[in-house]
Amino acid sequence: MSLSDMTRRQTLALLGTTPLMASTGNGLAQTTSDAEPLKDIAAKAGLTFGCAVSHDLASDADFRALVLRETQMLAAENAMKFGSLRPDATSFSFDTADALVKFCEQNGKSVRGHTLIWNDWPPTWLKQSAARDFPGIMDRHIETVMGRYAGRITSWDVVNEPFHWKDGGALRPGPWALAMGEDYIFRAFATAAVADPKAKLVLNEAWTERSDALGLGTRRALLLLIDRMRDKGLRIDAIGLQAHLMPDQPYDDAGFVAFLHEIEQRGLEIYLTEFDIDERSFQGNFAERDRQVADRAYKFLTAALSVKAVKLLMTWGLSDRYTWWREPSLMQKFGLKRLARPLPFDDTLRAKPLRDAMARTMRERKA
Ligand code: XIL
Repeated sequence: MSLSDMTRRQTLALLGTTPLMASTGNGLAQTTSDAEPLKDIAAKAGLTFGCAVSHDLASDADFRALVLRETQMLAAENAMKFGSLRPDATSFSFDTADALVKFCEQNGKSVRGHTLIWNDWPPTWLKQSAARDFPGIMDRHIETVMGRYAGRITSWDVVNEPFHWKDGGALRPGPWALAMGEDYIFRAFATAAVADPKAKLVLNEAWTERSDALGLGTRRALLLLIDRMRDKGLRIDAIGLQAHLMPDQPYDDAGFVAFLHEIEQRGLEIYLTEFDIDERSFQGNFAERDRQVADRAYKFLTAALSVKAVKLLMTWGLSDRYTWWREPSLMQKFGLKRLARPLPFDDTLRAKPLRDAMARTMRERKA
């Protein structure tokens, strides 16, 4: 699916027949045996809990009620990305993003902005722009988008995924890096700091949870980049770690916790921004796979939450009913043969063992 198709579909869904407002449905009693919402458990542990949402929020009243019950903060899965907001070089298309921000404000939720500058998902017009035009395009984009929502977005992913998905040490290729080199990151943060002085400025990155060459390389490169940014006097408030866990990749608690402490020592907060678990390597029926997912989450989250700087936990979606791992293009790309079950609630919106594992780690948090 192309980006513009995706954007159009989302926009239509959000602006369609279903008004984007709090659900009055009461089908929630059966969704979990744990009476305490994750957001409340999180708050007691010094954390904010939230999730990313898409058109599912407008079209599915039961899902909307679940999101309202369980979360304190929402992020747009796609609606605030550059390609979604920028149909062409001169205009902005804010309908879907506006609807989400309004929904959050009407329902007492805070909003995370994801994401201003990313080398992935660029619209064709951006790829075709001349290198000399990129600084101006960037400034205008950040100033317009952050300015529009100034004071209403708790944190912004100013730059998403700075490093390469194959070689953690190199910059991720794409139009911004190609046109501006590493300066694209510095300029984005400098511009963002002025455009919304209240929003926390976040650098969001993938794969640091792995302890293979990619994960270790990305950790090293990220810490060095933070140091370069601080040397330049740039404001950066938090590091976002996506935490799309891949249990078939190497991982060790101690190494990951040591990395989190390195970030903490640099005075930054840490957000786990896109938590879900790729369970393609787990065997067995649903119950067996769900148990393995829960065990993996319990181990990972217990380690991560032992670090005080970790202030936010967001899942990428909330129910298996809506997860990016089920998008046909992604299933094809990764050769997935069965529907993924990476999230705390199942297709029927019932709580899974993963939800209980998340609740347990938060209740046990000592940091
Ligand atoms: C994903 C969305 O979930 C999908 O709907 C879309 O097709 C592609 O992008 N890391 C990120 C997110 O930072 O923006 C990505 O979101 C998932 C990986």
